[in-house]
Amino acid sequence: MSFSDRAPVRATACGKLILCGEHAVVYGRPAIALPVTTVRTTVKIEPRWETPPRIEIQAPNIKSHFYADTDPGRPLSRIVCNTYEWCRRLNPAIPAQNIVVTVTSDMPVGSHLGSGAAASVASARAVAAWLEINLPVADASALAFEVEKIHHGTPSGIDNTVIAYEQPLWFIKDVVSELLEAPQQTEDLLSCLVVAAVGFSTPTKQMVDVVREGFRANRLRFNQYFDDIGFVSVRAREALLAANWPVIGQLMDENHQLLQELNVSCKELDALCIAARKSGALGAKLSGAGRGGNIIALARSSAHAAELRESLLSSGAMQVLIG
Ligand code: PMV
Repeated sequence: MSFSDRAPVRATACGKLILCGEHAVVYGRPAIALPVTTVRTTVKIEPRWETPPRIEIQAPNIKSHFYADTDPGRPLSRIVCNTYEWCRRLNPAIPAQNIVVTVTSDMPVGSHLGSGAAASVASARAVAAWLEINLPVADASALAFEVEKIHHGTPSGIDNTVIAYEQPLWFIKDVVSELLEAPQQTEDLLSCLVVAAVGFSTPTKQMVDVVREGFRANRLRFNQYFDDIGFVSVRAREALLAANWPVIGQLMDENHQLLQELNVSCKELDALCIAARKSGALGAKLSGAGRGGNIIALARSSAHAAELRESLLSSGAMQVLIG
């Protein structure tokens, strides 16, 4: 098989939002994640002409340019090499590759829109496509999950799963990964979900550690918070399937309060949630690991989402998108 005179191949992956259940999901409680298809990460693979053969990786968004052989521990090196090995198990005749892998994204890094998992899923898809090997969605997700461990330490697996399947997801770590068959409800909900970034972020791994410390110090209380968050997810699932947006809004508020108890919110996230509610949102919560990143606010209609966008920008949000 010759790859040297090939046209470039491209693959993409979407972003994600956690509607409810973050952090508690690490402790086995259910969570719901939604794909955000309006932001994407793209990976391009093209032949490299210099010798000897190497895998050159460019990620202009994070101002990175390196080689998989000299930086093997980096997440992008790992996903490209692991996927290459995965493909070689199916076709051992695949030779060493001389390629340039370029990763670009509309997702701000650290925005908690799943940029790390999206880069992994898109890279796995691109490598498999380049090597002309069919990569099932479950395997793209599993390959990305291994790399999530570098980003997150002990990831639940929710990010790589929702991004690989690009469908709303009901998720219980190690137990259930159920795609919710609610395309119209999800589309309607996303058209009213306003995502506002505070403009800074704390690494997910650090925030997972904050919760772990709290849990170790007071297991009884934290188990109760996790149960309460899990119950939010149970009710949110019913409300999503029934397209009951006022209930989803109330549950978002309840979930935010519980995340405050877990000590993962911050004054900037709280202020944006308050501003969203004052501007008529049905509910608002932080989404993702917390102490930075995003809030999500549920508007009453797509016209109201546009108004909410403006009021969140004037309340200090750095960037606002509508799901
Ligand atoms: O950093 P994020 O937005 O991808 O958060 C992931 C969600 C957590 O529950 C905080 C961690 C996890 O692995 O589920």
